[in-house]
Amino acid sequence: MHTIGVFDSGRGGESVARAIRETFPDSEVIFRDDSAHLPYGNKTPEQLLDLVTPILQEMIEQGCEVIVIACNTVTTTIIRQLREQISVPLVGIEPMVKPAAQQTKTGIVAVCATPATLKSKRYGWLKDTYAKDTTVLEPDCSDWAAMIQANNVDRKKVDGRIIEVLDAGADVIVLGCTHYHWIEQDIQKLAKGRAIVLQPEPAIIRQLNRVLASLAV
Ligand code: DGL
Repeated sequence: MHTIGVFDSGRGGESVARAIRETFPDSEVIFRDDSAHLPYGNKTPEQLLDLVTPILQEMIEQGCEVIVIACNTVTTTIIRQLREQISVPLVGIEPMVKPAAQQTKTGIVAVCATPATLKSKRYGWLKDTYAKDTTVLEPDCSDWAAMIQANNVDRKKVDGRIIEVLDAGADVIVLGCTHYHWIEQDIQKLAKGRAIVLQPEPAIIRQLNRVLASLAV
């Protein structure tokens, strides 16, 4: 029995927390968000650090032994600085560039993510390291997290972006923001037979298992 923290700016993290609760039914899962300051995707790393650090500290006070940063934006921009300040292991989530580059047959993939993630050094490093010979399309998803948070998704707009990348030849679509997990099924339907859709929950569960095993020692 462990106490696992899950943090995101908003609803994206709930999808991840749900997957963790299903996998670790004997553990307590504490989910915290910061919906007052959403979207994180248009903030600077400095702003994010000021917002996130005190929340993670509170989560440790609540007993979290490990915290899943269920937010690509926070992971790609500030996880290194957070790890210097936060005393429990942090499990991050970042766009699945490497598996996408490995699985594409057309050599074209699409990464759907927030502006802050796409601008981050870490994301640039992922592309330079794993996707040098792959064309990476980055559709404009800048308002998706806010729409999903408000439960007011402009389907025409979202579908339009997905169809554009499919028509451009993408055969892998990476969900690089946890909010988009809530529209995964719709994207899967649009992409059926043309592209696979990758999201990180199974990989996060595997990583969390490793971290929990190391805590037990
Ligand atoms: N869910 C977050 C992510 O994975 C960010 C959403 C936001 O912009 O606040 O990037």
